[in-house]
Amino acid sequence: MANVTFSSPRMGKDVTVYAIAGDRGTVLAVAKQHKIPIPFDCQDGECGSCLVEVTHLNPTTTYGKYGIALTEKEKEMLKQLGKITKEEIVNAEVNDMPPRHRLACQCFVRNEDILVTFEGDETLP
Ligand code: FES
Repeated sequence: MANVTFSSPRMGKDVTVYAIAGDRGTVLAVAKQHKIPIPFDCQDGECGSCLVEVTHLNPTTTYGKYGIALTEKEKEMLKQLGKITKEEIVNAEVNDMPPRHRLACQCFVRNEDILVTFEGDETLP
């Protein structure tokens, strides 16, 4: 079971939802299901509207238990947005470590607790 906590100036208070097996999907899909106002547009990793910061809350490691596979598409968009560092790219490619910023429509909820924060408009070009 994964607790996903959403936090944003756009919301009155933080909201934690339980993403149970079967209703897992992308962070954006979970957000939409629970009426969390993460901005989005293309839902296909191409516009950058859905930029979020993901903090892994598993206390045993810095990045949580699960490695990630960052797609080229997501990596390119994060680069264009200036939201991924060279070190993060290397870490993602070599160690499957997730970068701090993700695209909510490309980031899958795994079996670990995460904090998802987003601003909203400032990420738009
Ligand atoms: Fe366009 Fe996620 S909605 S990149």
